[in-house]
Amino acid sequence: MYFRKRFFGRMITVRDKQFDVYLSQVEIANEMERVARNLMHDYRDSTPIFLGILHGSFMFFSDLMKEYRLECEVGFLKASSYLGMETTGRVKFHEAGELDLEGRDVILVEDIVDTGNTLKALHDHLKTHNPKSVKTCTLLFKKEAYKQNLPIDYVCFEVDNKFLLGYGLDYDGLGRNLPEVYILKEDL
Ligand code: IMP
Ligand code: MG
Repeated sequence: MYFRKRFFGRMITVRDKQFDVYLSQVEIANEMERVARNLMHDYRDSTPIFLGILHGSFMFFSDLMKEYRLECEVGFLKASSYLGMETTGRVKFHEAGELDLEGRDVILVEDIVDTGNTLKALHDHLKTHNPKSVKTCTLLFKKEAYKQNLPIDYVCFEVDNKFLLGYGLDYDGLGRNLPEVYILKEDL
């Protein structure tokens, strides 16, 4: 895990904004392998359930799961913030299929943790399913913006408190399919 400060100057335009590469595919793959190894070590005696938080985590989730070579289950949850609410974490959940988490080790997989409001709401929501444990794994962590006390157990990258795009993260619905993580050019 490290703070990203170098840029490669590969620019793209999404809607009205310009973005530059922030994390390359190779850098993402390397950190993801490290995190997958840690997960395999910590969950070697369990059959955990990885829960991908849609939509943002879809690409990270898929790549991470390919690196996790032990027995596990996967599931998905959609979290959406209520529009127009203050940033105190009013989040709505849609479960994809039946989730039977009773007594299970659950790992939430997020694209990015910013204020942590979404994560806090997710943890509170999951408690009602009586899991044995709930941990968090995220690709990106904006540590400076984080306002909650929950530990973020598995982090690929601690990143600047700037707007990021790609590898699941969107700008106005676009850019989720980009295989690298980009940063808004005016924030460089
Ligand atoms: P939080 O609840 O503030 O931790 O952040 C919730 C959500 O905001 C994340 O799951 C993302 O969907 C979105 N988000 C936060 N930072 C960024 C960013 O830099 N780019 C795109 N989406 C972001
Ligand atoms: Mg998200």
